[in-house]
Amino acid sequence: MIAAHGAASIITTERSTITNMNNIMDFITALPKAELHVHIEGTLEPELMFALAERNGIRLPYASVKEIRDAYHFSNLQDFLDIYYAGAGVLLQTQDFYDLTWAYLQQAFIQNVRHAEIFFDPQTHTARGIPFATVIDGISQALVDAKNKLGISTRLIMCFLRHLDETDALKTLDMAMPYRDRICGVGLDSSECGNPPGKFREVFRRARIAGFSAVAHAGEEGPAAYVREALDELQVMRIDHGNNALDDTSLVTELVKRRIPLTVCPLSNIKLGVVNDMSAHPLQHMLDLDLLATVNSDDPAYFGGYINENYFAVAKALSLDKATLVQLTHNSFTASLLDAETKAARIKEVNAVAEIE
Ligand code: HPA
Ligand code: ZN
Repeated sequence: MIAAHGAASIITTERSTITNMNNIMDFITALPKAELHVHIEGTLEPELMFALAERNGIRLPYASVKEIRDAYHFSNLQDFLDIYYAGAGVLLQTQDFYDLTWAYLQQAFIQNVRHAEIFFDPQTHTARGIPFATVIDGISQALVDAKNKLGISTRLIMCFLRHLDETDALKTLDMAMPYRDRICGVGLDSSECGNPPGKFREVFRRARIAGFSAVAHAGEEGPAAYVREALDELQVMRIDHGNNALDDTSLVTELVKRRIPLTVCPLSNIKLGVVNDMSAHPLQHMLDLDLLATVNSDDPAYFGGYINENYFAVAKALSLDKATLVQLTHNSFTASLLDAETKAARIKEVNAVAEIE
């Protein structure tokens, strides 16, 4: 049994505006959570990047950890992706992928994440000559250890890079087939504009036939039409980001009716200029529309915070009350790929911490 982290005392769920921010961070920490949108390559902290570069004899274009952090100013998604793919170049051996994943999972444990659905980008590595087996063996060993040592359940989702062509994605799906039992779903990430979901219709069709769950990034920088296309052509069961879906009221109605979750990433949205100011973040509006919105970290090493910092940033900027924070953690389990019984058990744990009957 995992001990609860953080102070969970004197918590009520009255719809009162939160004034004590220390109290609210303790509350957020205490809530059991599922994280549904985190790229494992995006959890590579500068310290580990440096250590792996040294271990692997790779020269980084930075002289210090501080210099790396100082370089993390992005004006859009592509700006970030260029730095993110370069950073992943220090990952060579199975042990490197293990260390990366284990570091994230330890952080997740501290933040009371009970379930994590983790993206990985195999093409970022196979394009550099790293065998698929090296990548998946390192990641999946850490996931086994997370279950056994930390009590965190996980699912692995393989993303196709949408700036590459579908033939490359099809080859990647073939490479993944021997590891079918370790990969739960397929996703779609990287440069959104100009790379609509329909470009990957066939690879998603084959993946679904093979039993993978399908999700896709859509409506982060791309238009609402890409969200519609991800639903219609890729038949995804969840949308990653989805901010721009709000531009199309009939699409919103469909997302609500079909209970299609949105995995929202507040700090990412600010860092990449998807949202100008946290006080203008659409999360509360999404919940008011009855969308199944969740809070996630995306690429925490690059965007300045893990899941709790994301909850905290929106709680503070939007004055979210405790009932809303509880709702968001309920949503995180509801929107997950867990079975119905486990979802119900985790939601019960949330309610015990929040003292809901
Ligand atoms: N969007 C698209 N691709 C990504 C992201 C993102 O936020 N993070 C890592 N790859
Ligand atoms: Zn993402």
